[in-house]
Amino acid sequence: RSFATPTFDNSNPRIPPYLKLAKNYEKVKKVLGKRGTALTLAEKILYSHLDNVEESLLTNTNGGRDIRGTANLKLKPDRVAMQDASAQMALLQFMTCNLPSTAIPASIHCDHLIVGERGAKDDLEEGIKMNQEVFDFLESASKKYGIEFWPPGAGIIHQSVLENYAAPGLMMLGTDSHTPNAGGLSTIAIGVGGADAVEALVGAPWELKAPRILGVELFGQLSGWASPKDIILNLAGQLTVRGGTGFIIEYFGAGVETLSCTGMATACNMGAEVGATTSIFPFHPAHVRYLEATHRRDVAAEAKKFSDIIQLKADRKAKYDEVITINLSQLEPHINGPFTPDLSTPLSQFKETVEEQNWPDKLSAGLIGSCTNSSYEDMTRVEGMVREAMEAGLKPASDFYITPGSDQIRETLRRDGPLDTFKEAGGTVLSNACGPCIGQWKRRDGVEKGTPNAILTSYNRNFRGRNDGNPDTMNFLASPEIVTAMAFAGSTTFNPVTDALLTPSGKEFRFSPPSGLEIPSQPFEAAREEFRAVIQAPDPSVEVAIAPTSERLALLEPFEPFPASDLTGLRVLVKVTGKCTTDTISAAGPWLKYKGHLPNISENTLQTATNAETGEVNAAYDLDGSRHTIPELGKRWREAGRPWLVVAEHNYGEGSAREHAALQPRYLGARVVLCKSFARIHETNLKKQGVVPLTFADEADYDRIGAGDEVDTVGLYDMLKKGGKGDVALKVTKHKSGEEVLIKTKHAVSKDQAGFILAGSALNLLSKR
Ligand code: F3S
Repeated sequence: RSFATPTFDNSNPRIPPYLKLAKNYEKVKKVLGKRGTALTLAEKILYSHLDNVEESLLTNTNGGRDIRGTANLKLKPDRVAMQDASAQMALLQFMTCNLPSTAIPASIHCDHLIVGERGAKDDLEEGIKMNQEVFDFLESASKKYGIEFWPPGAGIIHQSVLENYAAPGLMMLGTDSHTPNAGGLSTIAIGVGGADAVEALVGAPWELKAPRILGVELFGQLSGWASPKDIILNLAGQLTVRGGTGFIIEYFGAGVETLSCTGMATACNMGAEVGATTSIFPFHPAHVRYLEATHRRDVAAEAKKFSDIIQLKADRKAKYDEVITINLSQLEPHINGPFTPDLSTPLSQFKETVEEQNWPDKLSAGLIGSCTNSSYEDMTRVEGMVREAMEAGLKPASDFYITPGSDQIRETLRRDGPLDTFKEAGGTVLSNACGPCIGQWKRRDGVEKGTPNAILTSYNRNFRGRNDGNPDTMNFLASPEIVTAMAFAGSTTFNPVTDALLTPSGKEFRFSPPSGLEIPSQPFEAAREEFRAVIQAPDPSVEVAIAPTSERLALLEPFEPFPASDLTGLRVLVKVTGKCTTDTISAAGPWLKYKGHLPNISENTLQTATNAETGEVNAAYDLDGSRHTIPELGKRWREAGRPWLVVAEHNYGEGSAREHAALQPRYLGARVVLCKSFARIHETNLKKQGVVPLTFADEADYDRIGAGDEVDTVGLYDMLKKGGKGDVALKVTKHKSGEEVLIKTKHAVSKDQAGFILAGSALNLLSKR
């Protein structure tokens, strides 16, 4: 239906640009005709953010019939959020564009660099001392470009976003995989790498292959020990870690109405664990209650007006590509892990599974909170349990850690009592930061690396070594309530639904099923002043703080453009065999501290890759036969001005969207990666950084090229000039014999990407625009 344009408030940058979106939505309906009245919610929000509705929806889509999985959507997100680890490279790249401010509102959240150990105050002081220069850089850049800056201790990115920026109908990008948390407030929020974020920050359209839509129908109502976390723990078990790839998960059904906004956010947050592009819930009265409790009555009012136009839920005739149904009334608590979030066991079978698998019975630590589960509802449900157990004379038998998601929630929990209750029980309240969730955890229980032990967290991810760097720590995921009950028991085989604990006086104690409050009875307490972010105008007079002697931060030089000819004289740096993930190309762990210093982090490039010709790890040979580590040889060749290529096998660059895995080889002089196949995101990242990804037309040719061989491209320049059209071959001169062979290749370079490569990188091109 058409609408008479209502008046929208555009005075507050934290309110989405509803008028613009409503007008774009009208265009979408015009372009799609009848099909425009059968859209899912995710489609409505995505399409109302299209830069050019007609081009995106009608190019190669069979007249709009086959959009999902086919169309390249060119989107204009409303805002960007960045966490401190990934923001460094994002800002350094943004700075090469020489713009006075970001084109859309943005925020930076200092949450990843604080180690959890003794408690909030001490840990925060220590963390600030250790990372001062990074925080100074981020803060000064924020002032210069008009970005909202959330200092260390202010909160975890996804919680701060939910409390301040997420809004029904908004579309945002975040430089962190759990950005979809905001889908709990009917926002399309997508996790991306820094280069993607910069595209949005400079005002360029951001491209996304139109996702398919997986509908999850909820009916019934949670009861007893089941919580919203169990929806996604159960779903992860059904879908596995790859089952959501290429999909947006859209929840619908009567069960949605029984959930709180923060409960929906928990489910969306962990949708990242099944590989989904994002997750979303329809707009709902719980959202209005949450917006009002978080002091955003104005956002709630505008969202209601917008929803009157667009209906922030799926159209009645909308079709999902797949549907999964979950009956909340029958859902029982789940425990997922160890080492993978999709190994899901219902609580009633967990004791048996622990015994069968010989997992430790002793629980070393229970950790609750984080970006996934530190809502008022979570914490008040846990508080009730803790109080009840303490009244019976019990204390947690395991170490018990609590991470509030933001200072706003911490201050509210302090005001209303739960924080004191947790401390009284002997819990350690950590700072409002990621801490143990991202491996920043100094354990104080003496469990050494290599010692098998079990921990239970209410976090979202549990890859091996994720929390404490110990590959033998079995890390299980559950709701905060289950974590707390087991922490009191000190055992992984305790089931609070059926089992009792013994009190010091020898009596049996049983937990009552938890109950809590969705939102506080008075609005949330404001964060302490030092932990608030302010909306600030860009100030061009600010100098961005990077010391020339810094080992952690270095300004980026734009990469040189492609020459006006084919590439000649490239040499094969190394021929890799086996898996080559983004971790192989750019390792994490201790290297994380160099994320803002491209020359320093490049010293880890391909350091765990296996040399196909010698079987050695991290070994490469110069033309004179001298042996080096792979990054050392890359550096030598960079200094000698010798461009190079890597040869590899299948699925090169699988793993994460880590942009350093493309930036580092490019910095060291890589111009081409030649392999049997690429992981899709990494292939795109290479093109964005000006590296040409080619695959063998005939995989057997992998055996016809080796380290040190000299390579000239044939047809590459022509293909790029023609916007990605045409074939590319490689003329290979064998290093040892001087024999010449021609290797045919394939590529997937689009017109836009050809432009990126010719300009030297996507940013070189975008900054010119
Ligand atoms: Fe990510 Fe955990 Fe922080 S999921 S944002 S590391 S709290």
